[in-house]
Amino acid sequence: MGTEDAEAASTSPATSTPTPQNGGGVASVLPIGADGKPLVISRSGYQGFGSFFNEVSVQDMIAVPRDAYVPPSRPFTPPSLERAASLPFGEACRELFMIDFNRWTFINHGAFGGVCRPAHEEANKWREYCEAQPLKFLDRELFPQLVRVMREMADFMGADPRDLVFVPNATTGLNVAIQAAGLRPGDTMYMLNIGYGSVKKMAQAASAAAAGRGAGSDPAAAATAAAAATAAAGATAGTVPAPTPTPHGEAPGGINVVYGEVLFPISGPQAIVDLVAATLPPGTKLAVFDTVTSNTALLLPVAELTALCRSRGVQVLIDGAHALGQVHLDLDAGVCGGGVCGGGGGGDCAENSVNAAGGGAAAAAAAAPAAAVSAAADAMAASLSISSNGAAGANGAANRQPLSVPDYFVTNCHKWLAAPRGTAVMWVRRDRQAAVRPLVVSHGSGAGFTSDFIWDGMRDYAPYLATSSALGLWWALGPDRVRGYMRRLLGQAVELCGSRWGTGLLAPSLDMCGSMALLGLPQDLAEGPEADSADAKYVQDMLHHVYSIEVPIKSIQGHLYVRLSAHIYNTLADYQRLADAVDDLVARERAARAAAKAAGGGEEEEPVKKKCGG
Ligand SMILES: Cc1ncc(COP(=O)(O)O)c(C=O)c1O
Repeated sequence: MGTEDAEAASTSPATSTPTPQNGGGVASVLPIGADGKPLVISRSGYQGFGSFFNEVSVQDMIAVPRDAYVPPSRPFTPPSLERAASLPFGEACRELFMIDFNRWTFINHGAFGGVCRPAHEEANKWREYCEAQPLKFLDRELFPQLVRVMREMADFMGADPRDLVFVPNATTGLNVAIQAAGLRPGDTMYMLNIGYGSVKKMAQAASAAAAGRGAGSDPAAAATAAAAATAAAGATAGTVPAPTPTPHGEAPGGINVVYGEVLFPISGPQAIVDLVAATLPPGTKLAVFDTVTSNTALLLPVAELTALCRSRGVQVLIDGAHALGQVHLDLDAGVCGGGVCGGGGGGDCAENSVNAAGGGAAAAAAAAPAAAVSAAADAMAASLSISSNGAAGANGAANRQPLSVPDYFVTNCHKWLAAPRGTAVMWVRRDRQAAVRPLVVSHGSGAGFTSDFIWDGMRDYAPYLATSSALGLWWALGPDRVRGYMRRLLGQAVELCGSRWGTGLLAPSLDMCGSMALLGLPQDLAEGPEADSADAKYVQDMLHHVYSIEVPIKSIQGHLYVRLSAHIYNTLADYQRLADAVDDLVARERAARAAAKAAGGGEEEEPVKKKCGG
């Protein structure tokens, strides 16, 4: 039933004609369908969750084959992308964003993104449309429209729409996936020390939950299993938790969390694979890896890591919070990050190809490199002489997929894709979906994966719907072209600032970066010989307040780094301003230190930081 038809039906009862139906009963036929066809109003009842006043459930809508699917049109004219498609990258693209570029030098897209104007405008249009007739929109139109956008997203990510759902943010998806892994007392969860901070907290929560669940189980057995996992991790793991209590704060009697410790410098992606191969405890239940790490901005070889873990029967959750937009995705082929064989940025091989023709063409253009990455990952798993028997789960289809296909993948839309805030996607491999439960249980619970997640109560669904315009913008600009610009600009920025400051990358090379990189800062910016987080905060605050530059500063192993982001609105002038500001700050610090030394006879230096009030 078309939504316009339904409205017309409610206002045109006089035209109805009762008609006998096959299954008995009488239907009314209204000759007023928006598509020109008669509208049948029957007593067939609700057709499953999500149908509300539609005739098809969300499970059925999402399962319609691609060539048979007829998307509902938007009830307004969506923001035009025609002009956007013709804009050169850089300065001209600033009109596509909401950021106040007159006031700020914005080099931190990686933190919280920044919405693109077409998506922002579309979200507003949906809000206005909703409020004009809330019931019509929420009861009759929302689900078909959400399904449309989920299908568009699936096209962009190289996925089957049945395998992904919207969630408000990566954090939600990560929590859901970790809960779905079914960790029991004594089970082991593995991640790298450079993994995202809140995921470490999630591990603690999972441990507490497991401890609670395991109250009636044998604590001695749990402790023995934990000790075995710890021993198996071996000294090379760097950070090896004791079973009870662990130094990471996991609840006693809960799960064992083992961290593979990455120490810098690293030689390349293979070093990460080798570390995991050496420190992944036998019997590990879940491993979590980032597509791009947050604090260290490293593009990890997730295809190889996934293949390695799955070959050992370990479930894999990829935290791709930074992935969507920053790297080429082809989830069904197991491509969701970097690779050992030079998969940097995921778009390099086709970086100059323009995909303005639309989703299908772009997906096809990307198919060859995607297959190559997953094949390489599987070859690597094979070369490690690891048996893959039974590792891919109970479902036969899953066994036919490349081993580099993870169990769970989570990505934000509100970062690199520039969709409205509060939008992320959780993708779950088909054979795992039955075990995945939403954090918020609502009407659709138990009726299928799409149904479970599509509605979590009354709230603003406009950001999800407006993701459509963000995707439209990417297709109009060409995803590989966008990534090509971002990576080239990042390389130029690294060259410019690095040569000015005499510093280098934290990563072994730009091949291990997407559109973010950590670049060393002059050591003079630290107060002591070893930089710490107080130094990092001080420099970041100074750049923000004094120079109006928004850029994050990190302290890693006693050194300060700036995390450079490059998006389509950035230009080399942004990094030039940063280079100048850092030079100025260094001069300022040196002068302040010299003055303090002169005043104190060099005995007791007053910390410069405090004087500057940073
Ligand atoms: C690697 C990683 N994981 C997870 C998150 C959490 O994302 P969100 O706050 O959107 O849930 C972030 C955020 O920056 C991240 O960088």
